[in-house]
Amino acid sequence: MKTRITEMFGIEHPIIQGGMHYVGFAELAAAVSNAGGLGIITALTQPSAAALADEIAKCRDMTDKPFGVNLTFLPVVNSPDYEGMVKAIIEGGVTVVETAGNNPVQVLPALHDAGIKVIHKCTAVRHALKAQSIGCDAVSVDGFECGGHPGEDDIPNMILLLRAADELDIPFVSSGGQADGRSLVASLAMGADGMNMGTRFIATKEAPVHQNVKDAIVAASELDTRLVMRPLRNTERVMTNPAVERLLEIEKEKGADLQFTDVIEQVAGVYPRIMMEGDMDAGAWSCGMVAGLINDIPTCKELIDRIMAEADQIINERLKGFQNAA
Ligand SMILES: Cc1cc2nc3c(=O)[nH]c(=O)nc-3n(C[C@H](O)[C@H](O)[C@H](O)COP(=O)(O)O)c2cc1C
Repeated sequence: MKTRITEMFGIEHPIIQGGMHYVGFAELAAAVSNAGGLGIITALTQPSAAALADEIAKCRDMTDKPFGVNLTFLPVVNSPDYEGMVKAIIEGGVTVVETAGNNPVQVLPALHDAGIKVIHKCTAVRHALKAQSIGCDAVSVDGFECGGHPGEDDIPNMILLLRAADELDIPFVSSGGQADGRSLVASLAMGADGMNMGTRFIATKEAPVHQNVKDAIVAASELDTRLVMRPLRNTERVMTNPAVERLLEIEKEKGADLQFTDVIEQVAGVYPRIMMEGDMDAGAWSCGMVAGLINDIPTCKELIDRIMAEADQIINERLKGFQNAA
């Protein structure tokens, strides 16, 4: 399949693995890229720019295909070493950067000068238009269904993707709730040039996370995620568990007076315990509603091959069949 996204990123299939904290290590990024998609290393999971450089080198040893790095811009007091990370990305020969969070304008000139394509992840059409206006090469349009931060507008992809298609000139991929060949064909029908998946890629053989995380995703239904931190305007979609239910109780008790420090126990620094140690009740961890569509733990190649075969079957048999029947 050839789309503006496969052409822009030099990949075989229009499928991207979104950056994921404590999941997006070299092992997963290389497996996705080796399977013909675009794998992405998550920069902020690395403790330093030097560690990111090592992770990029490790990924380079595991694949000769293009892969990307995710740079998430968070509203934090002590800013991470973005300058050092950009340097590591450029010197590591990375060809694609996925930016997310705040406006990435500060890193665009350096990345573009190095010939790196930038895809910015947005949860609103106005943010996608802003990304286009500052020179991003593509955007990832992240609907309300998504695992992680869906923003505050609550627009599901059935609407958001069509709105993006109506407004944007640069290519975009669907993100949030995407799982299989049906998702890919639907995304393409709605104007996207590919799709981005997070949660689906956690439940793969190569995802370097504890087996408990994969099993929890397979066991979960589409009803098992919750939105937390909405009163802080930092909404995150997470898998429910006792810690999350406690967090929601605290939010109810505190109401409009809620401060980040009130929920710090449930959200700060919990990722290593969950993703590495498999302590599934340690706190809140991002997970999409798409968990309800995930029933197995394939390799990345099995997953991507299956998606492409299913997409082909839908396009060439199911959809064309409707026309031929007329
Ligand atoms: C466990 C987890 C961690 C994530 N961490 C990040 C992150 O650090 N930066 C980022 O831009 N997106 C992050 N995301 C969002 C994903 O890149 C992707 O946009 C999202 O998962 C898409 O929705 P889906 O889970 O329904 O496929 C995370 C998602 C998950 C599930």
